[in-house]
Amino acid sequence: MEQFDVVIVGAGAAGLFCAALTGQRGLKVLLIDHNTKVAEKIRISGGGRCNFSNLDTSPANYLSNNPNFCRSALSRFTPRHFTDLLQQHGIGFHEKHKGQLFCDRSAEDVIGMLLTDCVAAGVTRWQPCRVTGILSGSDTATGSSRYEIACDRGHVQSRALVIATGGLSIPKSGATDFGYRMARQFGLRLVEPRPALVPLTFDSGSWAPYANLAGLSLPVQIAVGERRKKITFLEDLLFTHRGLSGPAVLQISSYWRAGQPIRINLAPDIDLLQTLTQAKIHSRKLIANELARQLPTRLVDVWIQQDSAADNPWQRPINEASDKALARLAERLSRWELTPTGSEGYGKAEVTAGGVDTRDLSSQTLESSQAGLYFIGEVVDVTGWLGGYNFQWAWASAHACAEGLATKLQPARQID
Ligand code: FDA
Repeated sequence: MEQFDVVIVGAGAAGLFCAALTGQRGLKVLLIDHNTKVAEKIRISGGGRCNFSNLDTSPANYLSNNPNFCRSALSRFTPRHFTDLLQQHGIGFHEKHKGQLFCDRSAEDVIGMLLTDCVAAGVTRWQPCRVTGILSGSDTATGSSRYEIACDRGHVQSRALVIATGGLSIPKSGATDFGYRMARQFGLRLVEPRPALVPLTFDSGSWAPYANLAGLSLPVQIAVGERRKKITFLEDLLFTHRGLSGPAVLQISSYWRAGQPIRINLAPDIDLLQTLTQAKIHSRKLIANELARQLPTRLVDVWIQQDSAADNPWQRPINEASDKALARLAERLSRWELTPTGSEGYGKAEVTAGGVDTRDLSSQTLESSQAGLYFIGEVVDVTGWLGGYNFQWAWASAHACAEGLATKLQPARQID
């Protein structure tokens, strides 16, 4: 049976990077992936240009039951470390907005770099190759951990096993629940996985008035939760046929829980009440027309139509409106509250929140409470905001793991 120091399952962002770094540290590495295509999520990310990191990365940009867990890995491998690597490989990149870093040319450049580094570090890659079973034991002489991995190409043995199989999002890209099954097999706890960075949906009846707005986009402030637990984002909102999407909704979806309302300020850049009160002094236009100066006309039209049965304030000249009526309108538009009935699910989610419980992992090395078993990347209960934070976690956790493997396995190797 062929022997390796480390077997890594999952040749996505975290697995490829970890394999290259571990190989560079002198360990014998086997990387296994069941997919025919390599690193499919890197390829489709950032509209094909891969938003590979974010200059403003900090633990505050991540969700986890333990918000401090990601701190150690992120501080030891920063966005700058990754951009240095890209520069060494002659790969051009640029900042788009809000610190988001993209490839100048194509996401393929990042994949090419990771593959080149794996080859240079002597990593063996078996792909496509299906893992059919994993057994753990210990070396009778040293007492150190041993893993036996059964796969399509035979059985191999390793001293450490790294699970880098990601989350459940986009099943057609090769996503599976393998990582969660492994965690359960070895008695580790899981934080219930759920789709995140995902469009939110509404029941077709209540959404009918807005369905025709599909394609309309506008900057909003969006919020979920109350008081100290309130989360807000200032981003673009996109109307869809089934509900809401765009960066604002993707961001808030990671925090949203079933049954909770979300609140949207449709005119976040102005004080709407003050604007309407000022207009009342100078203008005789209909309120709807005054509003159309601040908001997309299509959106104003939909709000007007909805009020047609009631005493419709929108169709009144603004100079005839009472201050109370204007205050009510401003309040409605700046605190539009609505309760999604669900999300578009794993088929459309960019990531999976939840995952392997960080209480069972070392924040220094990503080794689990099962000796020699490591979890890195999205499979861990660490989920980044939209904007390059998830790849930065993949790189940083892979780096922490590679360092941990080198420290743990290299001295023993010399004794061998
Ligand atoms: P990743 O999913 O990359 O890799 C897991 C690997 O494991 C895959 O190669 C898979 O085939 C393999 N695997 C799964 N099950 C297996 C099994 N049973 N046996 C063997 N192999 C198995 N993030 C970001 O920061 N910036 C961005 O621009 C984007 N854009 C984006 C767009 C879209 C459409 C999606 C779906 C996602 C993003 N993301 C993103 C998120 C980002 O892609 C994601 O967080 C990382 O790829 C996670 O890296 P991992 O290596 O953990 O998993």
